[in-house]
Amino acid sequence: MENIVLIGFMGSGKTTIGREIALLGGRFLLDTDGLIEQNMGKSVREIFASVGEKGFRKIESQLILWLSANVKNAVIATGGGMPIYNDVHYLGKVFWLDVGFESIIKRLDSIEKKKRPLFEDMTKAQSLFNERKPIYEKQAQYVIGGSAKPTEIAKKIVSLMNERVI
Ligand code: S3P
Repeated sequence: MENIVLIGFMGSGKTTIGREIALLGGRFLLDTDGLIEQNMGKSVREIFASVGEKGFRKIESQLILWLSANVKNAVIATGGGMPIYNDVHYLGKVFWLDVGFESIIKRLDSIEKKKRPLFEDMTKAQSLFNERKPIYEKQAQYVIGGSAKPTEIAKKIVSLMNERVI
């Protein structure tokens, strides 16, 4: 089975929806931030503080290579910047969770914002969001609106995966 790859801005629900997809059965969830944190023994914030964003992006690129060579039957929740700096098609079928900036702000509480160094400044986060939108769109094979419940979105993604063109 080809991997399901979830992309989108910080707070768009990639991990939550990835977990729902995994709960539907047949796939395990791999969260790229989680994998990086586990491997480095540091949080994303600490990695940014020690090696900078550039260092973090290097680790992300190495992880993409490793995942594409070694992982199948998974649902992969990517970090928000991963498809900006890498071609994520190598990983599997790509779904963009297209959620508006206003909804993202409502979803992320202060603790969740603090985990994300690029969310420190709201104005900068908003321009990053605007800059990235066309790149997510370009990388995506499917665009999924984020207003439905996570379980419904998960079912929709799985049904799209199961569609076969005859
Ligand atoms: C980032 C998103 C974060 C994390 C890091 C950088 C980004 O992941 O990888 O803070 O550049 O958008 P989430 O999308 O899971 O928040």
